[in-house]
Amino acid sequence: MRGEKENPDSGTTIFHGLIGGDLDASEKTDERMIDESRVILAAGTDTTARALAVITYHLLADPMRLKKLKSELDAALPDPDALPMCSQVETLPYLVRFLRFPHP
Ligand code: HEM
Repeated sequence: MRGEKENPDSGTTIFHGLIGGDLDASEKTDERMIDESRVILAAGTDTTARALAVITYHLLADPMRLKKLKSELDAALPDPDALPMCSQVETLPYLVRFLRFPHP
């Protein structure tokens, strides 16, 4: 990341936002950044792991759902190596219905 080495305050992480933003200098301490990291780690790991585990369970418990979802995803995202944009997946009708309870 050449640009970041040249100017450590420029970039796109939450830390760049905090350090480059209009917080008072007293808020831009290493301690504050470490606290923010802890919040993100704590809030983002178990929640995501649990959601993925529940989704996986429901898909494996019902092969028809898995099949429908796979065909929708295969058709909409033919290149498995290309990371899709959020806007590409949030409008897929079966995926969206599947993620909302009660299940279709
Ligand atoms: C399926 C995954 C997730 C679920 C179900 C979930 C759920 C929630 C819920 C219910 C809240 C409280 C919202 C409120 O009361 O205003 C929340 C807040 C928060 N979540 Fe998540 N979350 C998920 C993933 C993540 C991830 C991946 C991150 C970060 C990488 C994250 C970071 C946060 C943070 C920082 C807050 C506090 C926001 C604030 O300051 O108001 N969450 N989350």
